[in-house]
Amino acid sequence: MSNRISVSRASHDTAAVFDRSAATYDRVGVEFFGPMGRELVRRAGVRPGQQVLDVGCGRGAVLMPAAQAVGPDGDVVGIDLAPTMVDLTRADVATAGLPNVRVEVADAEDPPLPEATFDTVLAGLVVFMLPAPLPALRAYHRLLRPGGRLGVTTFAAYDPRFSEALGTLARHVPPERRQPPATGREDDFATRESTGDLLRRAGYHQVTVEDVPFESRFRDSDHFVAWVWSHGSRAILESIPPERLPAALADVADVLSPGGGSLRLTTTIRFALGTRADS
Ligand SMILES: C[S@@+](CC[C@H](N)C(=O)[O-])C[C@H]1O[C@@H](n2cnc3c(N)ncnc32)[C@H](O)[C@@H]1O
Repeated sequence: MSNRISVSRASHDTAAVFDRSAATYDRVGVEFFGPMGRELVRRAGVRPGQQVLDVGCGRGAVLMPAAQAVGPDGDVVGIDLAPTMVDLTRADVATAGLPNVRVEVADAEDPPLPEATFDTVLAGLVVFMLPAPLPALRAYHRLLRPGGRLGVTTFAAYDPRFSEALGTLARHVPPERRQPPATGREDDFATRESTGDLLRRAGYHQVTVEDVPFESRFRDSDHFVAWVWSHGSRAILESIPPERLPAALADVADVLSPGGGSLRLTTTIRFALGTRADS
């Protein structure tokens, strides 16, 4: 893999937020990314002996079950643009004793890997963040062997209370720190139909798209906030001036669990699968 990386500003900024979350990402006692990653590997039908690429591997929610599925005769390459994610996941892979798993810093927009090499390309909760998902999906198509499978996930629907909690936090962000609205790149994934169309436009056949709900449990509002710090949504917490944070967190507690009790949130994940034609 080439050592020279040239990335878009948007991807650089996104990865920087994840880099700051890497140490606690998916490690604050909430079952969130793990079950989604395992389900992606299962649905993509990863088999022993396969060569698998995991795009935007984060802390290994897809990578680790993929390594288990390919077994000692297969190989898994994980790429991520956040160097701390890569360092920590590499260390996890070494601790787990998996010599056939490689983790590298690389851009999901156009991974610098040999064409027609992989039996399966997986991308868990990353493609919708890219400035241009269509060329990225076309790049993964080139990386697949004929007959190879693509599996991607996106967020189909957030729990209304999650959206309300983030909206509550957003009201504490000073106007000069507010982010401009998203550029519309998420529109491609707005519905099951548009998601399927996107994969077909990228060249995939036998496209299927299905939405699946996942439940996550939190002890209380503090646990919820610790979880928000641990992933990409931390960007909103970082935009709140430290002196305003206590008031913002008190408002979130009022919205989420006024009595101080536990809470459950349901997140619906969209699984999109496709195949590179045989010839
Ligand atoms: C929501 S996380 C998902 C991580 C993992 N796939 C999972 O399911 O837990 C998105 C990951 O994509 C990475 N990422 C974002 N933009 C990227 C890009 N352009 N190239 C490579 N990785 C990127 C982030 O650093 C982060 O680790």
